[in-house]
Amino acid sequence: MSESFYQFTNNWFEGAAKSVWDALIPQINPKRVLEIGSYEGASACYLIDKISEYQDLELHCIDTWEGGIEHQVGGSAQTDMSEVEQRFRHNTKIATERAGHIVDLFCYKGYSDIELSKMLAKGMQGYFDFIYVDGSHQAPDVLLDAVLSFKLLRVDGVLAFDDYLWQEPLPYGTDPVRCPKIAIDAFSNIYCRKTRIISAPLYQLYVQKISE
Ligand SMILES: C[S@@+](CC[C@H](N)C(=O)[O-])C[C@H]1O[C@@H](n2cnc3c(N)ncnc32)[C@H](O)[C@@H]1O
Repeated sequence: MSESFYQFTNNWFEGAAKSVWDALIPQINPKRVLEIGSYEGASACYLIDKISEYQDLELHCIDTWEGGIEHQVGGSAQTDMSEVEQRFRHNTKIATERAGHIVDLFCYKGYSDIELSKMLAKGMQGYFDFIYVDGSHQAPDVLLDAVLSFKLLRVDGVLAFDDYLWQEPLPYGTDPVRCPKIAIDAFSNIYCRKTRIISAPLYQLYVQKISE
C-alpha cells in the first residue's frame, strides 16, 4: 500500500497477498471478515479500502500485539510491539474514517484460541464470509486457529492461510513445528471432504468451505 498517510514498516501484505486478493476478494464479496493477526493493519486496511468502496463491512481483528516468538526477546525479528499496536490503531482509524461505506471494526486484544472460542460460545458459528489466518506461525497454534475458524466460517466462505511456505531462519536450520505448513497440511487433509482448495500461488493457501 503506497498511500503516505498509512504508517507501515514492512511490505509483507503487498508482497505475498495483494495481487491474489485483488481478484479473489470481489469474487467472495465478503461482508463479515475475521482476521487473526493484524500487526500494523496492512491487510485490515486493504480490506477496509477495497470492500468499503462498494458495500458496508464488519471487520473483526484478533491480535495479542505481543508478536510471535520470532518478534520477542531473543527472536529472529525482535520488534517493539507497543509501537506496532499504535500504528495499527492509527492506520485503521484513517481507513475507517475515509471509507466509502459503513465499517464496523471490532478489535480483540488476546490470544486467538481464547478469542475464537469466545466467539463460538457467543453463537457465531457460520458467521464469517472470509477468515484470514495470519497470527502465530507455530504449527500447534495454526492448527487450532484453522479448526476454530472452520466452525466460524459459513458454507461457501473462504479461509486464507498466510505464510504456507514460511520458515523461520534459525541457527540450527529450520524446525517444522515452528512453521505453519504442517498444520495447514494436516487441516486441509483432515477436512478434505468439507473443503476445496482454490488454485492460487502457494505462498498463501485458500480453502473454501463446502459443507459443515
Ligand atoms: C505476521 S503478523 C500479521 C500481519 C498482518 N496480517 C499484515 O498483513 O500486516 C502476525 C501477528 O500475529 C500476532 N500473533 C501471534 N501469535 C498470536 C496468537 N497466538 N494470538 C493472537 N495473535 C497472535 C502477532 O502479535 C502479530 O501481530
